Amino acid sequence: MPTVKKLAGYIKEYKFDTIITPIMMLGEVVVEMMIPLLMAKIIDKGIYGKDMSTIWKVGAWMLLAAAAGLFFGIMGGKYGASASAGFAKNLRFAMFEKVQTYSFKNIDKFSSASLITRMTTDVTNLQNAFQMLIRMGMRAPASLIVALILSISISPRLSIVYLVAVAILTVLVFFLSGTAQRLFNQVFKRYDDLNAEVEENVSGIRVVKAYVREDFEKTKFEKANENLYKIFVKAESLMVKAFPIMMGSVYACILAISWFGAHLIIQDELTTGELMSMLTYCMNILMSIMMFAGVIVMVLMSTAAAQRVCEVLDEEPDIKNPEKPVMEVKNGSVEFENVDFSYYENSSEPVLKDINLKINSGETIGIIGPTGSGKTSLVNLLSRLYDVTKGSVKVSGVDVRDYDIVKLRDSVSVVLQNNVLFSGTIYENLRWGDKNASDEECQHAAKLACADEFIEKFPDGYDTYIEQGGSNVSGGQRQRLCIARALLKKPKILVLDDSTSAVDTTTDSKIRASFRNDIPDTTKFIIAQRISSVQDADRIIVMDDGKIADVGTHEELLNRNEMYRELYESQTGAGSGDFDKV
Ligand code: GTP
Ligand code: MG
Repeated sequence: MPTVKKLAGYIKEYKFDTIITPIMMLGEVVVEMMIPLLMAKIIDKGIYGKDMSTIWKVGAWMLLAAAAGLFFGIMGGKYGASASAGFAKNLRFAMFEKVQTYSFKNIDKFSSASLITRMTTDVTNLQNAFQMLIRMGMRAPASLIVALILSISISPRLSIVYLVAVAILTVLVFFLSGTAQRLFNQVFKRYDDLNAEVEENVSGIRVVKAYVREDFEKTKFEKANENLYKIFVKAESLMVKAFPIMMGSVYACILAISWFGAHLIIQDELTTGELMSMLTYCMNILMSIMMFAGVIVMVLMSTAAAQRVCEVLDEEPDIKNPEKPVMEVKNGSVEFENVDFSYYENSSEPVLKDINLKINSGETIGIIGPTGSGKTSLVNLLSRLYDVTKGSVKVSGVDVRDYDIVKLRDSVSVVLQNNVLFSGTIYENLRWGDKNASDEECQHAAKLACADEFIEKFPDGYDTYIEQGGSNVSGGQRQRLCIARALLKKPKILVLDDSTSAVDTTTDSKIRASFRNDIPDTTKFIIAQRISSVQDADRIIVMDDGKIADVGTHEELLNRNEMYRELYESQTGAGSGDFDKV
C-alpha cells in the first residue's frame, strides 16, 4: 500500500488524464448498454409491430449511440495512453535523478545492470499495468453491474442462468489467472538474469573478444535465453488453454439462455427483442469478468516491478551534504587522523587501518605499494567518494564531511584509476572539468598534460569526436585527456591514481615538470607502480596491507626501506620489477 501511494505521487501533471480516462470508459459502457435496449425496441415494436417509423427513429438513436461510443472509446484510449506514458516518464526521470545522488556505495549495492533493468523494463511493466488499470479497472466492473441490473429488470428468471454462469466463470478465471501470474512472475525474474547477462557482455565485448570467450558467452546466454523460452511457453500455453475454456463456458451460457429463453417466449413471458438483448448482455458480463481478471493479474504482476522501482527511489544516498556546509576550501593541506575504512559496514578486517598523515598545501606526495594495499581507497576518501569508517580526513583544516560536496569535489580533482571519457568532442570532454572554460584554457590544460601533441595531429584537432568510453583513443592518450580534464578544475588538490601508467616515461616526466612549474600551489598525490613517477616527489608514502609502512623522500626510503629499495633495484636493473614479485 505505501508503494501504491508513493508511485501515485508520480502521476503529477497527468492527473487530469488519469481521472478523465475512466470517466470516458464509463461513458462507453453506458452507451454500449443502451444499444441492446434499442435493438429490442426495433425488433419488438418495429419489426413485429410492422412500424417503419419506429425503425427509422430508433435506428437513428442507435447510430447516434454508436457514434458516441466511438467517441468515448477513442478519448479513453487517448487519455489512457497519455496518462500512463506520462506516469512512466515521471517515474523514469525521478529514478534517474535519484541515481545521480547515489554515492559509489549506493551504486555498488544495486549494480549498474540492475539499475538499467529497473529504469527500463520495470517501468514499462508498471506503465502497462497502470494503463490497463485506468482503462479497464472501472469499465469492467461497471459494465458487469449495469448489464446484470438491466438483464434482471428484463427477466429475473432468465437472469438466474447468468448468476450460475458468472459464479462458475469467476472461479475458473481467477484460478487460471492466479497460476498464470505465478508463471509470469518467474518470466520477469528470468528477464532480469538475461538483461544482466547482455549488459555485462556488451559492455565488456572487447575483453570477450580478446580472450576469445565468444563461445563461452554464447553458451551462457543461450542458457538464460532457453530458460526464458521454457517458462514463457509454459505460461503462454496455460493462457492458450484458458481461452477456449472460457469461450466454451460463454457459449454454454448462451445456449442455456437460448433454451430457457425460447421456452419463456412460447409462454409469452419474454419477447424476441428482449431475448436478443439478454444474449448481448450475457456476452458483456462474461467478457467483463475476463477483462477484470486480466486487470488484476496485470496489477499483481507489476507489484514486483513496483517494489524494485521503489527500492531505487527509497535508497538513501549515504553521502549527503551537511546542514550548514562550508563553502570554501581555503588551501590544499590534508590531514588523516586515526582513519580506519572498510567498504562494508560489518566487515571484520578494514581496508585501511590507523592512517595518520599530515600534508602541507602544495606538497607533491607519491604513493606506492603492492596492488590491493589500499592506495586507491586512501585517496578516494579525500573527495568523499567514500566516507571514513573511523577517524577523520581534513582538507585545509576542515573535516571533508563538513564541506559542500560540490565545492569539495571542485577543489579536490581526482583522475580515477579506471577513468572514462564520454561520447562527444575533445572540447566537450575537457569541459567536464569547467563548463565555462574557453578554447584557450582547454588547450592550455591539454598542453600541461602533454595531450596537445597528439590532439593536434588529429584531422579535427580539438573537435575530434570521442566514442563512448573513449574507445577511439589509445590508453595513454585517454589518460592524458583525463588529466587535462582534471586540471581544468584548477583544483587545490590533484590526485592522479595510476594515471600515467600507459604513458611513456619521457612524457610522464614532462607532465610532472609542467605540474611543478604551472601549478606549484596545488597539492599533488601521485599514485604509481613505477618508482620513476614518484621519485622526485617531496615525500613518498609506502602503503602495505592497508597501513602506511613508511613515509620519506626517495633517498631516505632507499636507505631504510627494504621493500622500496628492492622495487627500485628491480625497476632500474635488468628486467621489470613488480611489487607482486617481491
Ligand atoms: P591497485 O590499484 O591494484 O594498485 O590497488 P590499490 O592499492 O589501489 O588497492 P585498493 O585501495 O583499490 O584496494 C584495497 C582493498 O580494498 C582490496 O583488498 C580490495 O579488494 C578492496 N576494494 C577495493 N575497491 C573495492 C570496492 O569497490 N568494493 C569493495 N567491497 N572492496 C574494494
Ligand atoms: Mg588502485
